[in-house]
Amino acid sequence: MSFYVTTPIYYVNSTPHIGHAYTTVAADIVARHHRQRGESTFFLTGTDEHASKVARVAAEEGLDPKEYADRIVEHWRALPERLNATHDFFIRTTDEGHKRFVQEFLQRIYDNGDIYEDTYAGLYCVGCEAFKNEDELVDGLCPIHGTKPEWIEEKNYFFKLSSYQDKLLALYDSNPGFVLPANKANEARSFIAGGLEDFSVSRAGQPWGVPIPWDETQVTYVWVDALINYVSALTYARDGEDLREEFWPDVRHLLGKDILRFHCVFWPALLLAAGYEPPKQLFVHGFLLLDDKKISKSVGNIIDPLDLIDIYGVDPLRFYLIREVPFGQDGSASLDGVGERYDRELANDLGNLLSRATAMIAKYRDGRIPIAPVEGEGERIAALQAEVSAKLDRFDLTGALEDLWAYVRELNGYVTKTKPWELAKDEANAAELDTVLFTLADGIRALAVALSPFLPDTGPRILAALGQPDDLAWENVAYGRTVATEGLEPAAPLFPRIELPTAA
Ligand code: MSP
Repeated sequence: MSFYVTTPIYYVNSTPHIGHAYTTVAADIVARHHRQRGESTFFLTGTDEHASKVARVAAEEGLDPKEYADRIVEHWRALPERLNATHDFFIRTTDEGHKRFVQEFLQRIYDNGDIYEDTYAGLYCVGCEAFKNEDELVDGLCPIHGTKPEWIEEKNYFFKLSSYQDKLLALYDSNPGFVLPANKANEARSFIAGGLEDFSVSRAGQPWGVPIPWDETQVTYVWVDALINYVSALTYARDGEDLREEFWPDVRHLLGKDILRFHCVFWPALLLAAGYEPPKQLFVHGFLLLDDKKISKSVGNIIDPLDLIDIYGVDPLRFYLIREVPFGQDGSASLDGVGERYDRELANDLGNLLSRATAMIAKYRDGRIPIAPVEGEGERIAALQAEVSAKLDRFDLTGALEDLWAYVRELNGYVTKTKPWELAKDEANAAELDTVLFTLADGIRALAVALSPFLPDTGPRILAALGQPDDLAWENVAYGRTVATEGLEPAAPLFPRIELPTAA
């Protein structure tokens, strides 16, 4: 089995923010999960550099666009690193390998007769990097950017999107999971059913971009250049290997709802036109709106939410992003929310569970986890395991995490109910106490493995605290895999109390 997941490639006209982190974290969680299932996995992220807004910002700074991109790209390379994301390749659309591939790809569509020349006149929003119809504007302004689009009239090359309407409808109708969630599939399908207009795939008289191979006075339209990254990367990410054989079309694209049309309509049509299979699946997530009103009140002078990583660590931020807002829906997050969930869920629910279990194993069994599996007990965890991977398969990341958290709470409830400290008072209860301690240790161990895609630092720390092998393979979530230990000590707090920096 192979699994290929992508994030959108991010514009380099400014530095990363929490919204970009959101998609990268989500992609990393599914990539880690498929890896732990033993699948051959490829995770791609990177930067979209040939935008006119990039050329504009560079000019403002008195730099050549490439020089500017080379500087700012370091912030973008740092984003997945800071998030502990395990991407296999970081693509830049200014890579020579990418540019060469874009030219080849366009040439194929041209040779197939789906690109023609025409004169274009229309309103162009640089923020969206897209032409706008009058009826998409509000008081003559782009409703997303609040800016006045520019009138552009030029000779361009056009892609015959209109001839792909039936093929695209057939793709949607024969494949109900093609776009998820279902409401986003409906949105894309209705857009297609409403009639498709051909669109311009080139821009005239601009030096910044990939030249059109048969007419070097034009460069490729930035969106076409950008979308092609999902295939181009496979051709040069690994020296001497063509990863298309293994990973195309087995790809899952993750994207925000702002770029649905480009991905769910234009991209499959471009692929078909160039003789490629369309992508296997696209998941469109919502927007995370950040309520930053509380910034000065509680998290001091931290302005950039990504800086919360420096305060709480990366796992708590990853946890919060996925837990707070159901993945796929819009929702609001707050800077305070990270700290609240840190205390209530990570430190109390999970951290205390581990501390209590290890303290009791140390105290009552001299640090030896009693290996005392109970007949028939494996079913609960097997059901959980199946449910979590099924949810992750449909990108219900929040649902999967909630299922795991329900088990954290269940184990806490088990401690309260079985009262091991009472059992320990009477040697006659020794077998029962063994069962309780084993059930706790084994349950926490299974959780560590299952939670590790979400909490990649914490999972292995829990395994170490329990004296268990650092093996995150998915089959190890199964009941009863705990190995004997010697001299286990009470675990240090997983999530210690954090002193917040005080407001300036
Ligand atoms: N360069 C294009 C994408 C080309 S992909 C072939 C682009 N770049 S972007 O820098 O604007 O980033 C877009 C993506 O960042 C969104 O689709 C989404 O995945 C993510 N997000 C940016 N802000 C976001 C939020 N506030 N909330 C959630 N995700 C958001 O568009």
